[in-house]
Amino acid sequence: MAQVIGVPKEVFPGEKRVATVPEVVEKLAKLGFSVIVESGAGAAATIGDAAYEAAGARIVPDAASLWAGADIVFKVRAPAASEVAMMREGQTLVSFVWPAQNPDLMQQFAAKKATVLAMDSVPRISRAQKCDALSSMANIGGYRAVIEAAHEFGRFFTGQITAAGKVPPAKVFVIGAGVAGLAAIGAASGLGAIVRANDTRAEVADQIKSLGGEFVPVDYQEEGSGVGGYAKVMSEGFQKAQREVFAKQAREVDIIITTALIPGKPAPKLITAEMVQSMKPGSVIVDMAAEQGGNCELTEPGKVVTKHGVIIIGYTDLPSRLPRQASNLYATNLFRLAEELCKAKNGEFLVNMEDEVIRGTTVVKEGAITWPPPPPKLSAAPAAAPAQAAAKPAAAEKKGHGHGGGGEPMSAGGTALLFGGAALLFALIGAFAPAAFLGHFTVFVLACFVGYMVVWNVTPSLHTPLMSVTNAISSIIIIGALVQIAPPGVAGEAARPDGVIRWLAVTGIALTAVNMFGGFAVTRRMLSMFRK
Ligand code: NAI
Repeated sequence: MAQVIGVPKEVFPGEKRVATVPEVVEKLAKLGFSVIVESGAGAAATIGDAAYEAAGARIVPDAASLWAGADIVFKVRAPAASEVAMMREGQTLVSFVWPAQNPDLMQQFAAKKATVLAMDSVPRISRAQKCDALSSMANIGGYRAVIEAAHEFGRFFTGQITAAGKVPPAKVFVIGAGVAGLAAIGAASGLGAIVRANDTRAEVADQIKSLGGEFVPVDYQEEGSGVGGYAKVMSEGFQKAQREVFAKQAREVDIIITTALIPGKPAPKLITAEMVQSMKPGSVIVDMAAEQGGNCELTEPGKVVTKHGVIIIGYTDLPSRLPRQASNLYATNLFRLAEELCKAKNGEFLVNMEDEVIRGTTVVKEGAITWPPPPPKLSAAPAAAPAQAAAKPAAAEKKGHGHGGGGEPMSAGGTALLFGGAALLFALIGAFAPAAFLGHFTVFVLACFVGYMVVWNVTPSLHTPLMSVTNAISSIIIIGALVQIAPPGVAGEAARPDGVIRWLAVTGIALTAVNMFGGFAVTRRMLSMFRK
């Protein structure tokens, strides 16, 4: 029998998101489910009841009839006490739960013999990315943090030179370059600010640069990645070195956006009261970690406060401030999870605990608490490959491209044979060829050797720019043309060119000049494509 998915109106004060949108209602129907939506559930996200009805959902008047009529409830926030009270025995719930922070709630679910899937517990493995609501919400939060900062900041982000005066670009410092931090870096550099960022995980440096930011390192050797690719609590020594770096940044920048979190731990305190005091008046701090206690000592969760002339934004509902976008992405995450749970497309959830994604997400199964799950087989961070293993495929790749000489070293016997053959060839040429030929031939062989040594050590991705630069270098033949065109007296009476040769030389010089300057120009353009 097809199950009914119910979507209530969120009860958490100020929450504007909704767990499904009309486009997703249609897709859920194709999986075989029927959908009921509480009247007004999407109103704060500008989605009216009529839109849900048009997509095939049935509107129910209130929360009580929704919880009574649904087999499966899709929600955004963890259920409030009033909602748990309406839960039916054996009902399935899919929402954010935060089991570590809500042990009482977990007991209540168990008492209801419920099955609960927590969107905050979706394993962070590649296959589950489509269901990863933490990432989709963090992405929105990071973007919105920049918008909130821009709203409070009294200046442009981008630098301008106008008739009314010069405006310097705003300087933004992002702390923590996870999903939210990277979104903030992209949004702030998109608005034209100078963006710098720091993270304890050094591997994010390239990601920061690729989004237009500059990585600010802490001069202290310590591995920043903990379990599953997340951050860990750093040593006292590191924290001291980091505080020095942050204190310097605080004096220089206009906006600080902090996103630093450590799973299962309070947010690390990274911005001290003195640092806030050292910032220019009118500067802005957006503390995205406010809900977990804040990265800044002076943050007040949920509020905007001004301390020492610095505006500190502690909103804990950043994704909800882009309600339509957030609802769309969250609803899609839920739908993708529903696809995993209903592979038969028969409108029924099958909570298959053998499936790694479903196992990780399920925190209560038919009343039994199954959280925490065993650790995922894959870490969120790419494993560092041993240097030797990395070197081998590179050599193999060279061989694969037919550049056999760059791979295995030649045996001593082979080298002796090669040199012996070459010496014999030279002796024969010296004995029989005209005297001038031997000189030219020697230069030719040396040129081949030097060319081989230079080109073979260049990474394959740079071969195309290399071709254009060798093209330019080959314009050395311009010297031949210059010699031919040389006036009498310079090259000697005997070398005086006749008219035809002179004009050929002029044409040669013109064409080679195009080749030379063009070659270098093209190389420059190509190399700039490799620079981030
Ligand atoms: P998060 O929200 O837990 O933390 C935010 C950032 O703060 C992290 O980059 C962390 O390294 C940084 N941080 C923590 N303490 C810090 C300190 N004291 N100073 C400076 N920075 C500090 O992280 P998020 O965004 O949830 O991502 C964590 C990891 O998971 C990342 O490696 C991310 O790439 C990875 N990930 C993997 C996914 C997948 O494979 N499906 C999906 C999403 C994220």
